Amino acid sequence: MKKYDYLIVGAGLFGAVFAYEAGKAGKKVLVIDKRDHIAGNIYTKEIENIQVHQYGAHIFHTSDREVWDYVQQFAEFNRYTNSPVACYKDELYNLPFNMNTFSKMWGIRTPAEAKEIIERQIREAGIREPKNLEEQAISLVGRDIYEKLVKGYTEKQWGRRATELPSFIIRRLPVRFVYDNNYFNDKYQGIPVGGYTQIIEKMLEGACVRLNTDFFTCREELMNEAENLVFTGMIDEYYDYCYGELEYRSLRFETEVLEMENYQGNAVVNYTEYEIPYTRIIEHKHFEYGCQGGYGESRSGISDKTVITREYPAAWSRGKEPYYPMNDEKNNALYEKYRALADKEEHVIFGGRLGMYRYFDMHQVVREALKAAEKALG
Ligand code: FDA
Repeated sequence: MKKYDYLIVGAGLFGAVFAYEAGKAGKKVLVIDKRDHIAGNIYTKEIENIQVHQYGAHIFHTSDREVWDYVQQFAEFNRYTNSPVACYKDELYNLPFNMNTFSKMWGIRTPAEAKEIIERQIREAGIREPKNLEEQAISLVGRDIYEKLVKGYTEKQWGRRATELPSFIIRRLPVRFVYDNNYFNDKYQGIPVGGYTQIIEKMLEGACVRLNTDFFTCREELMNEAENLVFTGMIDEYYDYCYGELEYRSLRFETEVLEMENYQGNAVVNYTEYEIPYTRIIEHKHFEYGCQGGYGESRSGISDKTVITREYPAAWSRGKEPYYPMNDEKNNALYEKYRALADKEEHVIFGGRLGMYRYFDMHQVVREALKAAEKALG
């Protein structure tokens, strides 16, 4: 009999949900993470009395009622509504593309006027079969929205010109003919009051946690301690890259404390022109308190300083932080080969964004982890 029923590699959301469920089922769990903190990419850290999202803006949103109820056990969520603003050459536009955006762009007022302009621009472009991302985007939303709000942002994000990117990256570009800046269509959304890290802390309460521990530096010893493995690291690394390397896009974050109360008046401002090297600036205090009277919470104790983070897209190479899987045909085919190996494992579960090589939102990770736990634990 080994000491633990489960070794969980990765103290992120997937690993923590699985650990919590395993603990409830009476299993003994060891969780390791190579970082010096728990919570993976949803880690938030208090700076100047503000919860700072260390790995990019994280807004919880879902239409899955069960998942929404599940996360409420671990924190109270505020009523934050994501309504990002785009900045193009000092012009500000509301996102997602809606009547506020169109009215600012063309000085119009009604949905019929907006539709007429978009349809005319699509007609004028005359694109039947889009050959690249640029043509695809123009054929969906017309030239003005593409040039000002899609082109530069997408080129920075992918590190390539839009004419060199495949059209399938953009399948849809939703346009709304109502004055509504709520970015998500989901039924529920919010930010946990007090940050995300406390959620993971509570989920891991019954588990033994070892930080600064890389699975690959002590694989044998760790495997001797547990009957089963839940692996939320990179699946290709697990198999020693035997079929080759899966590709990612990376990011770089630059965080700064500013001696002012309110820098940009919104949590998220996207910079859509190519010449500005970052894609967005996050002002963290607005996630928790909003700009006016807060989301029902008292504003006492809120810092008169503010913390902002600039987010720079970056090329990925082994050793850098892998953020976005490049789910193109080549990489998906490679992942399928690794998945075939994974399917043959009897005591190993691969989970999360790195183990399953897929971009997941948080609610999807919770759902996937609950599914995996139910299958494994009954
Ligand atoms: P996660 O990466 O969090 O955890 C994996 C853990 O495993 C890490 O802590 C890592 O250190 C550890 N690990 C890896 N290899 C290891 C090894 N060899 N040994 C030990 N430990 C190892 N979602 C959403 O719903 N709303 C949002 O607004 C956003 N925003 C957002 C912004 C950005 C910039 C990104 C990149 C992503 C988002 N997301 C999001 C997605 C969200 O971050 C994601 O769903 C979860 O963090 C994924 O949780 P995982 O547990 O799968 O991975």
